[in-house]
Formats: sequence, structure tokens, C-alpha cells
Amino acid sequence: MKAHEGLKNRHSSGTKGAMAKTTFSCSACGATHSRWSGRCDGCGEWNSITQDVPLSAGPAKKSLGGKRGQSITLTDLSTEETPPPRTLCGVEELDRVLGGGLVPASALLVGGDPGIGKSTLLLQAAARFSRAGVKTIYVSGEEASAQVRMRARRLGLEDAPVQLAAETNLRNILTTLEAEKPGLAIIDSIQTMWADNVDSAPGSVSQVRAAAHELTTFAKRHGVSIIMVGHVTKDGQIAGPRVVEHMVDTVLYFEGERGHQFRILRAVKNRFGPADEIGVFEMTGKGLAQVTNPSALFLSERGKPSPGSAVFAGIEGTRPVLVELQALVAPSPHSQPRRTVVGWDSGRLAMILAVLEARCGIPFAGLDVYLNVAGGLKITEPAADLAVAAALLSAREDTALPTDTVVFGEISLSGALRPAPQTENRLKEAQKLGFTSAIAPAGGKTGTVAGLTLTRPSDLVGFVGETFGAG
Ligand code: TYD
Ligand code: MG
Repeated sequence: MKAHEGLKNRHSSGTKGAMAKTTFSCSACGATHSRWSGRCDGCGEWNSITQDVPLSAGPAKKSLGGKRGQSITLTDLSTEETPPPRTLCGVEELDRVLGGGLVPASALLVGGDPGIGKSTLLLQAAARFSRAGVKTIYVSGEEASAQVRMRARRLGLEDAPVQLAAETNLRNILTTLEAEKPGLAIIDSIQTMWADNVDSAPGSVSQVRAAAHELTTFAKRHGVSIIMVGHVTKDGQIAGPRVVEHMVDTVLYFEGERGHQFRILRAVKNRFGPADEIGVFEMTGKGLAQVTNPSALFLSERGKPSPGSAVFAGIEGTRPVLVELQALVAPSPHSQPRRTVVGWDSGRLAMILAVLEARCGIPFAGLDVYLNVAGGLKITEPAADLAVAAALLSAREDTALPTDTVVFGEISLSGALRPAPQTENRLKEAQKLGFTSAIAPAGGKTGTVAGLTLTRPSDLVGFVGETFGAG
């Protein structure tokens, strides 16, 4: 009923009265609505819908008319295309997330919470690329040039041949870029830019969209790589980076917990490389340092065997990453027990709890359950299921798992276990870091890895029996 109404509204606003009709859009995802409402149907965000200011008059005629254009040359799929020449900046963690270096004439978006370190990362990247021979311009709309210079000095980058500007007027920026012909331009941030043909405040959906569109087209037309910074916003006052995600070639998110020094650069969309690739950095007093062996870092705080801890052998993008999962299970004083998850999906946790109860007869009713992924990493892989179950059971039974064991595998609703992709890579990483045994579902392709004992339960009941001694 509701969905149907929404469909009707969208339809009618698109076809008639485009001139006079006011429209509304969501500052979180950019979806357009014909009326205001408290919650966006598109992304579920509250209080993010604002009234659009109409764009300056577009073409007057509605249809293209009968005038003929030029015909386009068509090619087939097998036409050979030379791969784009890429520039490596030398920071391996960044180059890999970019899909193997920076592609000329591409438009990139780097999103993240304010204060997470986007400007720091991009200033460091700018310095690297300029030293690698790419003419680089850094335009800051948020900080004065002196501030950026001060940061550069602190990071020891003051001698890098980066050209700086503090400017928010898009027309001036594009004119300058056209004259200077850089190879890379960094725009920090897209929310501070304003195009003078759009009649609304910087940061509004229409401005952000227009500015991103201009910059993306400019990148393609003039062969400049443009990296835009986008702040993730929660309050809907300014438009978030999702508004421009579809326009750019590559979308990277810079994430991390405020209290942790780890920062993760994650590719969520990449037209020139694999998505889901991550780069791990550490925020230090001298800027961001790359972490080339994240598993060692995520496991570094582990000590003696403790109940509730399990090591998950995961894959992030193309790289195996070992990470500790921590669970705490305690009697609940509330009628509605708490389920709190950091770094994993709470719906998935509810599913694992339900499967443990229904298939293995292990109830969690009346118990508070907390689950944490150590180091501030966010895991999205279903292969983490079995490691989560192991951590939960270990916490519930107050029995520590052996510290030299890694766990992975997907749990299905029937209680069966499914093998995870890239099993061999996971096992190799575990072996490299000194683990001596692994628990992974039977079936699928596995190579044996020397020095690693493999336990292969076929279902969850078998796993519980083997690992905790009781069914
Ligand atoms: P910044 O890059 O300004 O964040 P963003 O552009 O995403 O808003 O980073 C700001 C934080 O980084 C600030 O809290 C201080 C910290 N920081 C360091 O810890 N070390 C450093 O060398 C620098 C430059 C910043
Ligand atoms: Mg910044």
C-alpha cells in the first residue's frame, strides 16, 4: 500500500508540472520525493528531507524534436582496449585500494566521518603523487592555505611540489584547473563547493550534486584525476557523500573508531579494480602510517586464553585478515535482554543465536549478549558466522578456546555449515601468524597447509560437540 503510493507520487512528479512543482530530496541518499516527510523511504534516514531549490532553467523544449544527430560508431565486446596507465604513489595500502594505482581522468570520492583523517590522508597522498611526477593541486574549501601548510610541515611534507589553494567557488577552481592542467586535483570537501548557477546554499543536495557533476565531467574531458572529499553527516543539515556515489568512478570510505588509532580505507565501488578491498592505516603523531600486516595488528592485544574470544580468519578484498572476535554473555537484569554488536551485523547475530537455540538446544533467553570485533574493523563476510558462534558459546560456557586455533565458515538456518571461499588463503595466513589448528566446514576446495591441523565439522551440532564437548 505504502510502496504503491510512493511509486505513484514519484511518477506524477516526474511527468507533469516540472516547472512549478516543488520537490524534496534526501540529504543522505539523494532520493527525490514529491512531499516532505519525516523519514526517507529510500534509505530510512530521519529528518534528512529538505526542499529543493529549483535548478536554473534547463532547455526549454521537452523533447529532442526531429533534428538528426550524428550516428555513433559501434564496437563489439572483443575490441581490444589498452589498460589505463596507472600511477603508483608508493603507499601500498592506498595503491591497492585504488585497484593498482591512480587511473588518469577518473573521479573519486573519499567519504568519512568528520575528523577521521580524510584531509590528512589526502595531503599525504598528494605529496606522494606529486613526488612520483604527477602535477598535483590541493584545493581546500575548509581550511586556509596557511593551515594546510602547517599540517604539511607537521607531517614533514613541506618540500613536496603540491600546489595549494583555498577556494570554494567552483567556477574559479575549474578555470584554474583548465589553465594549470594538473594530473591530479584534490577537492576538500565537496560540501563546501558552490556552483554559481545553482541557487542554493553550499552543502545542499542540489549544490553538492551540481558540483560533483561538474567536477566529474571536467575530469573526463580534461584528463585530470579528481579526488573529492565527502563528509558523512548524520543530521541532514548538509548532503552526504551518497548523493554523489553514482556519478564517480570510485568510492572509498575512510572508517575507524574514534578511540582506536586504526583507520580503514575501504573501496565500496571501483570501476577500475575490485570493490571490497581495504587498506589499513594507523593514525600517529606524524600522520597516517600504513599497516602492511593488519592481522598482526588486530591480534596484537591478545593475551592468555580467555572465554569469549575466538580468532576469525577472514578475507577483506583480496587479502586474508585475522581478527579477534570477543563475546560477553551475562544474565540480564532486563525483561528484554540486550544484544549489542560492534563491527558486525546485528541481524546476523540474532540469526546465529536463533540457530544455536533451535538446532543445538542452547538457549540465550534471559542473557545479555555483547559482541565486539577487535581493533575497530567492520566485518561483512558470512564466513564469520562460525567464529561468532564459537565466541558466543565460549563466553556462555565460560570455556576458553585454544589460542592457537582459527575459526571460519558460514552457518545456514538449518544448522548446516557451508565452506567459505578462499579457504586456502585463510589457512596460509593463519599458519604464517603461528596458529597451529583451524576449524572450518567440510566440503569445498581445500588445500592442506603444512603445520596446521584442520578440524572439519559438517554441521553446527558436530562443531559444538567437538569443540565444547557437549551437544
Ligand atoms: P583530519 O584529516 O583533519 O580529518 P577530516 O579531514 O576527516 O575531518 O584529521 C583530524 C584528526 O587527525 C585530528 O583529530 C587530529 C588527528 N591527527 C593526528 O593524530 N596526527 C596527525 O599527524 C594529524 C595531521 C592529525
Ligand atoms: Mg578535513
